[in-house]
Amino acid sequence: TKIIAYAVRQDEMPYFKKWVNNNPDVQVKLTPKLLTDETVKMAKGFDGVDAYQQKPYTTSILDKLGSYGIKSLSIRNVGVDNVDFKALKKNGIKLTNVPAYSPQAIAELAMTDLLRLIRHIKIFERQEAHGNLHWAPNIADELDKMTVGVIGTGHIGRIVVRILRDGFHAHVIAYDPYPNPQLQKEGLYVKSLDDLCKQADAITIHAPAMKSNYHMIGDKQFSEMKKGVYFINEARGSLLDTDALIRALDSGKVQGAALDVYENEVGVFNKDFGSFNAIPDKRLKNLMKRDNVVVTPHIAFYTRNAVKNMVGFSMDSNKTLIKTGKSKRLVKY
Ligand code: NAD
Ligand code: COI
Repeated sequence: TKIIAYAVRQDEMPYFKKWVNNNPDVQVKLTPKLLTDETVKMAKGFDGVDAYQQKPYTTSILDKLGSYGIKSLSIRNVGVDNVDFKALKKNGIKLTNVPAYSPQAIAELAMTDLLRLIRHIKIFERQEAHGNLHWAPNIADELDKMTVGVIGTGHIGRIVVRILRDGFHAHVIAYDPYPNPQLQKEGLYVKSLDDLCKQADAITIHAPAMKSNYHMIGDKQFSEMKKGVYFINEARGSLLDTDALIRALDSGKVQGAALDVYENEVGVFNKDFGSFNAIPDKRLKNLMKRDNVVVTPHIAFYTRNAVKNMVGFSMDSNKTLIKTGKSKRLVKY
């Protein structure tokens, strides 16, 4: 069995090495290169492909994999929004993802961001840098007096709900078109996204990106929210109309926002531009400059445990897929 793994980073190497040592029956080639139209030819002669990237898995890449007889593609992350499913189907390629490499990691960043926002930490840090150690006017609210709205209650959203309820005694409400039966019994859900927007003091989104929910948070949703709401997006940039967020920040409707994802993040996040000015995205810089906006470059997943599981689980899936055509992590399409 032969597997090629694309886009392998240095921090993933120890986990790949361990997997290779534990699976002597599999020949593994590791490359730091992304899977693109240029690099796809490296997969010729392999039985399966393991990959991670935010750039699209396009029709032409998948057609080429198909023409090499490759039927097993395993991605190391959760989101499958950058995969062309029609092309997978046409080429008979089966896809696995890693649905739960560490939902805890994402939930923990959501909590970090929420606390940073409600305690105005970025504002205090910036004031302190100028010698200002004043308190006012940055008085805070407490989570056990707040209603927090969770959009999407899958692997990640459920942990967010649990931490908020058990750890902070917040009043939590949620919206999900496919509610979790247990949480439904507990009365967690409101009827609609509108209801959630109207009632929540802070909102965090944990839904997958699909064509049907492109910009699901835009001017209309912000207009329904309470004045002074906090907003967190760690799911996908395309779920949020960024310009609408900027308008809502300018009007004071949104008191603070945290973004770990951004509509145009590909090619910008996880790069060093050398200086703030050199960052090539004006709109992103507009957000980053604000005292009440926290931007992180898609790091919610970036923990040792998550990276270990992304490598180990995706390689396990790819091997099983090659050998049996099956996997417990098969993405249905
Ligand atoms: P999941 O599939 O377990 O759960 C997603 C939930 O969202 C499901 O319950 C689903 O019913 C619900 N949902 C679907 N459409 C919705 C809609 N329009 N409105 C509200 N809810 C909706 O996924 P997960 O593991 O919880 O991950 C959620 C998303 O988080 C991923 O798809 C990915 O985009 C993102 N993510 C980000 C990072 C990061 O590092 N920032 C890491 C992992 C995942
Ligand atoms: C995901 O797993 O979907 C993420 O957002 C993490 C990132 C490595 C793409």
